[in-house]
Parts: sequence; C-alpha cells; structure tokens
Amino acid sequence: MLRYFYTGRDLNKAQNLADLKARAAKKLPNFCMEYLEGGSDDEITLQRNRQAYQEITFRPRTLVDITQRSLSTEVYGQEIQQPLVIAPTGFNGLLSHEGDLKLALAAKKAGIPFIQSMVSTVSLERIAETGVRHWMHLYLFKNRDNLKGIIERAEKAGCEALVLTTDTSIIGNREWDKRNYRAPMKLNLRNLVHLATRPGWIWDILVPQGMPKFCNLGDFLPPEKASAKNAASFLTQEMDPSLNWEDIRWLRQVWPGKLILKGILASEDALQAKALGVDGLIISNHGGRQLDSAPSPLDVLPEIRQAVGQDFLLVVDGGLRRGSDIIKARCLGADLVTSGRAALYGLAAGGQKGAERALEILYSEADRTLALLGCTQLNQLSKDYLLLGRNH
Ligand SMILES: Cc1cc2nc3c(=O)[nH]c(=O)nc-3n(C[C@H](O)[C@H](O)[C@H](O)COP(=O)(O)O)c2cc1C
Repeated sequence: MLRYFYTGRDLNKAQNLADLKARAAKKLPNFCMEYLEGGSDDEITLQRNRQAYQEITFRPRTLVDITQRSLSTEVYGQEIQQPLVIAPTGFNGLLSHEGDLKLALAAKKAGIPFIQSMVSTVSLERIAETGVRHWMHLYLFKNRDNLKGIIERAEKAGCEALVLTTDTSIIGNREWDKRNYRAPMKLNLRNLVHLATRPGWIWDILVPQGMPKFCNLGDFLPPEKASAKNAASFLTQEMDPSLNWEDIRWLRQVWPGKLILKGILASEDALQAKALGVDGLIISNHGGRQLDSAPSPLDVLPEIRQAVGQDFLLVVDGGLRRGSDIIKARCLGADLVTSGRAALYGLAAGGQKGAERALEILYSEADRTLALLGCTQLNQLSKDYLLLGRNH
C-alpha cells in the first residue's frame, strides 16, 4: 500500500516530466491514465505536437556573461515568473482530490496564471480565494442565457480573463474513453478489475467524496445534479455546433475583462478575432484531442505572429514536455506556453507537491537552456537562435 504514496523526497528524485508521468501511471487506474494521455483517432496530431518541438535545432552563441539571468516576463502589464500558464483541463478531481485547488496553489507558488476549466470539480470562487492569477475557461453551450450566470460569477470572483475554447463545437473521436465505459461513466469489466490494483487512488479520490462533482456548470446542471455521469451526458449533448463569430461579438459585449480565444490555428481566424476586440489567442489543437491531422501550434505560430503583429498576446498550447520547449516557442514568437498534461503528471503523481515539482523542473530546464544559448533575458530570443529559423 505504501508504494502508492509518494513523499516529497521521492518527488525530488523525479528528474523530468517523464519520471513524473511514470509515477502517475503507477498511481492512476487505467481509465484515468488513458483519459489523461489519449488523443483523437490515430493520434497523429498528438504525436505531431511533440515532434514539432523535437525537430527544432538551436543555434547557440558563446562567450556571453550569463551570470545574471531571468525568465520573468509581463502579461497584461503584470510580471510573471516564467512564460508559462496552466492550460484548462476538466475533471482534475480524477487525478488528485480537489486537483484544481492543488494546481492553482502550485501555479501561485510558481508565479504564473492558472486557467480553470469550466468542467472543473472545484468552484471558481474557491480558486479565486487562493489569490492565484485566475483566468476562467468557458465552453459556449447551447443555452446562452444560462452562461451569463457563470460569466457574472467569474466577474464577481475577480477573474482577470475569460478563455473561450473554440474547437469543440462537436467532441473529437476519443476512442480510449469510448473503450473504457459501457455507458457514461460506467466502467467496463477490464477497468473495474484494474481499479482493484489502485488502492491509493481509491483512498485519495473515492473515499473522501465519491466520484468528483462538477461545480461550475451553474444553471445548466446545479451542483446537486452535477454528478460525473450526468455531466458526461450533458457535455456531449450541449456542445453547440452553431458556435460562430456572432457569439464572439456577444461575449465581447457581456464580458468586460480580457477575452482570450483558445483553438485558433489559422491567421485568418486570428485577424478576425483581433478585429472583434479579443485580447489574446491560444494557438491550440486541444492537445491532439479534437481534429486529428490538425497542425501543431508551433507549425502555425510564425504565420499567426506575422499576421497579428508584435503587441498581441499569443500563447502556444500542446506538446510541452521540457523547459527547452518554452525557449523554442519564445524563439518562434510566442509570448507564453501552456502546461497541459505536463503539470497534470505531477498532480497525479503527488498532488500539490507533485504539481510544484513539475513546474520547478520546467523552470530549471528553461533557465539552463537560456543560459546555454548564451542569453540572460527572454527578450533576447529570436529565430536567430534556431537553425531551422535561418533556413526558412
Ligand atoms: C485531461 C485533459 C482535460 C482537458 N480538458 C479541457 C477542457 O476542459 N477545456 C479545454 O479547452 N481544453 C481541455 N484540454 C486541453 C488542454 O487545455 C490543452 O489544450 C492540452 O492539454 C495541451 O496539450 P498538452 O497536454 O500536450 O500540453 C484538456 C486536456 C487534457 C489532457
């Protein structure tokens, strides 16, 4: 039993995110690990997200004094400690009890913003109480009137930004999830048997509260009805295939804070968003979970940066597994990079301490990469530090 609990010392032995992922796999039941890891269809895009980073070769400079270095940068006029933001991921309560709260606290400690998924199992008000820089994610479900309640809650709680996901008008083909359940949230036999080998997870997740409930679906599914099973059916029914630019106009009118769109992959859409008063974009293919064979965000970043100009927030999302990836994305023109699965590996391996460890690893890898490139500040980075960039 003891081996299911990782102490802080064990977590410090994790050298990289792959080590944390291996620990997560030992702790989580199959259906959770496959939910976390899986992509859509043949997972071509999921793999492409990694490959795009791996194909990049640096072009370092030498004989530079790199004693004093910093990874800090500004977002919307406020400093953050590294160019990283936690991506919105739903159902984090499956990975660790009150997972969103632990992730938010880890983000606060690391000095970076936290995007809370609307499909989160902790209320947005509790996340706001942590004092983290809080961005709230939104899906535009069919009933727009009900959405106003959530938007008003986000405003009252002091969320700095709303992040609307635009690439889920219908849900991608996630075969792992389909295999794992007989009906919404009803596990098949293989998974029930495997669950018995994960007492640590049962103790951490099921014993305190049963299956986690969704807390931010407001009038769509009031908390007493927002069981995992109800929510799973609700989500597949309520995604709105009619989502279009008129909805962005509407959202821009009802939300006074920063508005960010997540799921943009083409410069035409980036320009349209900017023209409608959107304040930033997350270039994303949903971590390879929606359209398979979509490009990696890194592939389209240069085109989008060129279209929107320098002073417009661009965040690259998908495939981050090393701190050096953050530096590569910065060289190609990104302001920030998201941590999706990266911090979740830590969260699943060791709760808040595990998420903190994941963010520490990313920081130290990015800092070392910056130094070995012969730079001391992020704003020195450009395509000149990439071999690929020169050949293009
Ligand atoms: C387990 C899991 C849950 C996710 N839930 C959401 C969500 O609720 N809303 C959303 O916009 N994206 C969601 N995503 C996509 C992430 O925000 C992000 O785009 C993706 O994880 C980036 O890829 P990476 O994990 O390789 O970094 C989820 C991703 C994962 C792995």
